Amino acid sequence: MSGEVKLPIHVRDLKHADLPHIAWSGSALHLLVVENELDRASAGMADYLAVCAAKSDLPLAIGGIDYELAPGAGSIHQLATMPALQSCGLGTALIEAAEDRIRRRGLFRAELGVEQENPRARALYERLGYAVFDVRPDSWDEEAPDGTIQRYETVCAIMAKDLRG
Ligand SMILES: CC(C)(COP(=O)(O)OP(=O)(O)OC[C@H]1O[C@@H](n2cnc3c(N)ncnc32)[C@H](O)[C@@H]1OP(=O)(O)O)[C@@H](O)C(=O)NCCC(=O)NCCS
Repeated sequence: MSGEVKLPIHVRDLKHADLPHIAWSGSALHLLVVENELDRASAGMADYLAVCAAKSDLPLAIGGIDYELAPGAGSIHQLATMPALQSCGLGTALIEAAEDRIRRRGLFRAELGVEQENPRARALYERLGYAVFDVRPDSWDEEAPDGTIQRYETVCAIMAKDLRG
């Protein structure tokens, strides 16, 4: 049997109380990084959004906006959709909500970085109007399944979109 269901959603700010419900998004170290972003959001330096199932209010996709990384722009980062619900449109809804949030802050440029080894994510961003303007090395700490922390080195295409259109 196959079928289809409609899933009503809403987008709201991610809260500290959501952290136990977003373990699907990464390691314990990743959750600490998200928690730190929530603290930065409280201080006005960032936003962190969650696309939630309307009835349960549980996060299905999450992502942050950093207002300090690129002058005059909101930098969208840490985008993640619950694996079982990828390719259903939640990431698109999240990015559109992030763009609205950036505009409401009086900014009209959104930026994001995507690893060169992630062509599917890049295809999504291109479909939403983002274009590459730079390529930069990036690195961050990653927690292995055995709990050890390793520095992950990569190269990202940096993409931007003019939000005035
Ligand atoms: C990238 C991501 C946030 C997009 O969210 P999403 O809810 O799958 O996005 P949508 O359903 O709105 O759009 C999916 C489209 O994005 C692209 N895409 C990017 N990464 C994808 C992935 N891992 N799986 C499926 N589609 C992906 C495809 O073009 C896809 O189009 P399709 O539905 O025609 O196949 C999500 O797939 C994800 O969490 N991926 C793993 C983590 C990651 O790569 N984060 C981005 C770092 S820059």
